[in-house]
Amino acid sequence: MTDDERETQHLPAPSLWPIGFALGVACILVGLVISVPALIVGAIIALVFGFLWVRDLFVQHPVTSATDMAAAPATAPAVTEADLGSNVDRATFLSLATIGVGGLIGAAATLPPLGFAVLPSFMGEGVKTHDVDLGPISNFPENEYVIATYLENPDAGEVSRRTAFIRNNGRTEDGIPSFTAIYSRCVHLGCPVQPNGPIDEQAKKEVNGIELRPVLAASFGCPCHGGLYDSEGNRSAGPPVRSLDRFEFSIKDGNLILGRVFSVGNVDGTGAKARITKYYKAYPGVHVDGVEKWLYPIPTPGSTG
Ligand code: FES
Repeated sequence: MTDDERETQHLPAPSLWPIGFALGVACILVGLVISVPALIVGAIIALVFGFLWVRDLFVQHPVTSATDMAAAPATAPAVTEADLGSNVDRATFLSLATIGVGGLIGAAATLPPLGFAVLPSFMGEGVKTHDVDLGPISNFPENEYVIATYLENPDAGEVSRRTAFIRNNGRTEDGIPSFTAIYSRCVHLGCPVQPNGPIDEQAKKEVNGIELRPVLAASFGCPCHGGLYDSEGNRSAGPPVRSLDRFEFSIKDGNLILGRVFSVGNVDGTGAKARITKYYKAYPGVHVDGVEKWLYPIPTPGSTG
C-alpha cells in the first residue's frame, strides 16, 4: 500500500452533517430578519448538525476493511499503530484547520454587514425613550380628539418633534379612565398623518412645552399616497397595511402620561369599548397579523423608523 492509498483510506467518509449545518445557519440568518421562532429552529439545527459533524472528525476511521486487508498484496508493508495514529491526527487537524479558517473568513465577511442590517431592529426606532407628561386630563374634553405635539428629545431639537392624537373616551364599564392615543406616523411609509376635520386654533393650549389643539377628527389621512384611516385608526383605504400605531398611557397625579408606542392589528368597536390586538412596535409597511405577516415579513423599501 502506497502513502497516497493509505492517506485516502484515512480520510473521514463523506457526510451529510455539513449540509445540515449550513441549512441551520441559513435558517438563523432568515430568522434574524423575519421571526424569532425561525431563528431558534435554525440554531437548534445548526447545533445538532455541527455537533455531529465535529464528532465525526474525532472518530478514528479504520485504515481498511477486512475485505481490503484480505485483498491486499502479501508484499504490501504492514501498517503500524504509530502510522495509524499520525495519519488520523493529520487528517483531523487539516479538517479542523480548514473549518476554522473558513469560519473566520466567513465571519469577517458577513458579521459587519449583518450587524448593520439587523441591529437597528433591536435598538428601537427612535420613537420614544421616555414618558411624556401631557398635563391634567382636564385638558382633554370627552369624545374629542386633541392634537398633542411635543419634543421627544429636547436636546435633539425639532427633529425629535412627535405628534399624537388623543381622545378622552370617558370611563370603561369598570370605571377605568379610557383614552385613545394614536401616533401620527403613517404605517405605509412613515409620512405624518393629518386629522380630517377643523382644528380649533382658538382653544390651543401649551402645557410644559407641549402644544395641545382640539380637532374634530372624523378620520385621518396621509398626504403622501392617499392612505386613509377611520376615527379609531383602522385603515380604510389606500396603501397602508395595518391600523395606526398607538401609545400606551397612564394617569399619574391626575396627569395623562404617554408611554411606549405599540403596533395595532385591528380595532374592533369604538372608544372605551374598543378591543385592540396589541403587537410590538413594527416598521411602517410591515403586517403584524394575518397570513400577510408571513407572506410579507420584510419592511417595505423606503420605510423609516
Ligand atoms: S406614507 Fe402614508 S400613504 Fe404612503
